[in-house]
Amino acid sequence: MDALKALVVDDEKDFRESMAMLVKREGFAVEEADSLAHARARLKEGPVDMVLVDLGLPDGDGLELVRDEEYAGAAFVVITGNASVDSAVSALREGAADYLTKPVDRTRLTSVLAHVSRQRALHAEVSNLRGELRALGRFGALIGRSAPMQHVYDLIARVAPTQASVFVTGESGTGKELVAETVHAMSKRRDGPFVAVNCGAISPTLIESELFGHERGSFTGADRRRRGYFEQAGGGTLLLDEITEMPIELQVKLLRVLETGCVTRVGSTESLPVDVRVVAASNRDPQKAVQEGVLREDLLYRLCVFPIHLPPLRERGDDIEVLAQQFLALVNRKESSAKRWDDAALARLREYEWPGNVRELRNAVERASILSDSVIRAEDLPAGPRASCAPGAAAAAHSEEDGAVLRVEVGEPIAEAERRLILATLEQLDGDKKRAAEVLGISLKTLYNRLAVYAAAQTGKP
Ligand SMILES: Nc1ncnc2c1ncn2[C@@H]1O[C@H](COP(=O)(O)OP(=O)(O)OP(=O)(O)O)[C@@H](O)[C@H]1O
Ligand SMILES: [Mg+2]
Repeated sequence: MDALKALVVDDEKDFRESMAMLVKREGFAVEEADSLAHARARLKEGPVDMVLVDLGLPDGDGLELVRDEEYAGAAFVVITGNASVDSAVSALREGAADYLTKPVDRTRLTSVLAHVSRQRALHAEVSNLRGELRALGRFGALIGRSAPMQHVYDLIARVAPTQASVFVTGESGTGKELVAETVHAMSKRRDGPFVAVNCGAISPTLIESELFGHERGSFTGADRRRRGYFEQAGGGTLLLDEITEMPIELQVKLLRVLETGCVTRVGSTESLPVDVRVVAASNRDPQKAVQEGVLREDLLYRLCVFPIHLPPLRERGDDIEVLAQQFLALVNRKESSAKRWDDAALARLREYEWPGNVRELRNAVERASILSDSVIRAEDLPAGPRASCAPGAAAAAHSEEDGAVLRVEVGEPIAEAERRLILATLEQLDGDKKRAAEVLGISLKTLYNRLAVYAAAQTGKP
């Protein structure tokens, strides 16, 4: 194996040279730099395994290097001149692997270098392992080895260790929540909480207090103080799902929270600092949502520091089969069965459009395995290509006889036709409101509003 590369950064020539010599004796290939600027220039040239950096350099603080996401691949050992515990502690907090104090003690140096070498070996092993798993089609809890998913894995691996806000887009059921969880699991926050909030499922009047908390008595029904989701996610990651369903007034407040890093509970004037990484998700095109006035542009820019788009399942080639096999293996394990696909079933898996994406595939596998004895046949799976509830596909695909077509009389009031269409779609989708909203091309909020109106009409109330 090649020697690990070390860079010693210190402006005191004598100290730097003797340090370089000691590090070399421990088996490292050593280079030197006398300022932050030189260190940066060297780090840009190519990877270095370990950087030993003095905290007080003529052109700035060595911590700047530690903090810089660009050099996150190197292990940093900081050197403090005045044995200040404070600066050593803050360096460790910023992500330094270890620290040394001047004058440097030989034994301590040896043990620090040994520690860093071990860490690097482990690091290499983990990333190799990750590479192997990726070849097998796995990345954390995510399954799939198609090129578009490999690209998604690259993006996650890149952004997870940083503090950047992430915006995940993709059709319903493509795995946006799973991606958010993976970003969390691969970040330094992994030991903190992961909290997911569906902004479309909370009533608009409650969402502010749900997110930011409230003080006792701040509104009718607030009989005790409550911590909001932001506080609950402290030290961890908060997923704001269906962000475009958040009332626009509240988006202004959210933007402020993201910019100041502080929340104010409803009914309070005190602002509390919160340490939360936000991941937003939506199955709509965020730019279009901005044009339609349901998403504030300034909020989008704040959240969309790092966008990740998930391809629909139908664009993932063999992943359909890989996922189906995996889901079936899970069922088999749970039920102690040994069910398998016949060729026609596998062909149908590939042909079908999967408008509900991975979620639909997962449900279809479970349903099919219940319907079949030992071999799963094509008939146990959803009907062939395009015979689905995909937007635009429904009308073309369904024949008059299969009960999926509504007859609308010329001159029928639009509201009535709409009511029948909404209820029939919901029935067709087994009451799955989220999918119904998507298929109908309306927001979940609109769907809920319509259903409330229909329910009120039925009970005779306005
Ligand atoms: N690549 C994948 N590997 C394994 N399981 C997956 C993958 N993608 C999605 N799933 C599974 O599919 C289901 C739907 O995923 P998820 O809830 O993350 O989708 P979503 O994009 O958030 O959907 P929605 O827009 O409806 O909220 C979950 O059961 C999830 O575990
Ligand atoms: Mg989701």
